[in-house]
Amino acid sequence: MTPPPGRSWGYWTRVKLQMLGEYLSGFATASKEQSERVYLDAFAGEGSGLDRLTGEEFPGSARIALEAGEKAGFTRFRFFELANKAGELEAQLRADYPGPDIKVLGGDCNETIPAALAELRALKWAPTFAFLDPDGMQLAWETIVALAQHKRGYRAPGSLKPEYKVELWMLFPTSGIVRTLALEAEKLSPADEARATRLFGTELWRPIYNLRVAGEIPGADAREEYVNLMRWRLERHLGYRFTHPFELKNTRGATLYHMIFATDNDAGTRIMESIYNAAAARVPEMQKEARDRTLGQLSLDIGVAAVAEGYRYEPPWEPREPI
Ligand SMILES: C[S@@+](CC[C@H](N)C(=O)[O-])C[C@H]1O[C@@H](n2cnc3c(N)ncnc32)[C@H](O)[C@@H]1O
Repeated sequence: MTPPPGRSWGYWTRVKLQMLGEYLSGFATASKEQSERVYLDAFAGEGSGLDRLTGEEFPGSARIALEAGEKAGFTRFRFFELANKAGELEAQLRADYPGPDIKVLGGDCNETIPAALAELRALKWAPTFAFLDPDGMQLAWETIVALAQHKRGYRAPGSLKPEYKVELWMLFPTSGIVRTLALEAEKLSPADEARATRLFGTELWRPIYNLRVAGEIPGADAREEYVNLMRWRLERHLGYRFTHPFELKNTRGATLYHMIFATDNDAGTRIMESIYNAAAARVPEMQKEARDRTLGQLSLDIGVAAVAEGYRYEPPWEPREPI
């Protein structure tokens, strides 16, 4: 079957969105005693997408979030999308979901998120989840900082209860970084360097890059080190108690990207660990199904998810220092 025109998604996107739906339902259930739950979607997309193999239309992150948790679902939604797509997305979502408080902010989300958080300040006590799903290197560290600081000080002074930050599930563009940081050092432009520094909020990517360029570490180790650096920054600089990476690969075994979950919450960790393990267990069946479907259309790369079965949290290691 030839998929209809439109933005088409590979298998890995469906894996990611299925996991998102599962986590959001768990999040909503775990926080159902609270009167408000806030959902932030920094790269909100078009509301739906087309499966590259089957041509089937299926819901994107915005609709998944709007439908998560049924009666105990999210109460406030803030979507962020480029200006040329935001109006259409808002019209579509408001028409299909007339009840909840929905806003779509148009423009670069790195600029619009701080203002949206300021507007939500009175709700800083509310359980809040942010999905950060860029196409590549568009996310700035400063935006992650703003999200991590949003709920600061919501507990009464002297309260013995832990204070939870906004939970994040972010796409870390592993292959985008490797592409941006060209192996031939003379091809690395100042704009590329600035993009990497903007994403990590530090130049500590340089020691990893230098070792890679010198041939002292293989590409796979460099990728692991970049993911580790982001996790380290989330835990040690922003104070998240746990970060959980999940790797997605294409059918040829090449890493596409990692999803990184950051939370302060034991329940969040338990729920996401079980979702990672369930996704890993589904992979062989999904691969088979995808291969069966691609018979006759072998030029399509279906992509698969990859995470070691039996996933458990391991803390990040101290990143390499400049020599
Ligand atoms: C991977 S897609 C998101 C898919 C979406 N999460 C879904 O599940 O339907 C990335 C989206 O980010 C948008 N985008 C790119 N740069 C952006 C920016 N700086 N600010 C906000 N949105 C951006 C693109 O227009 C694109 O729709």
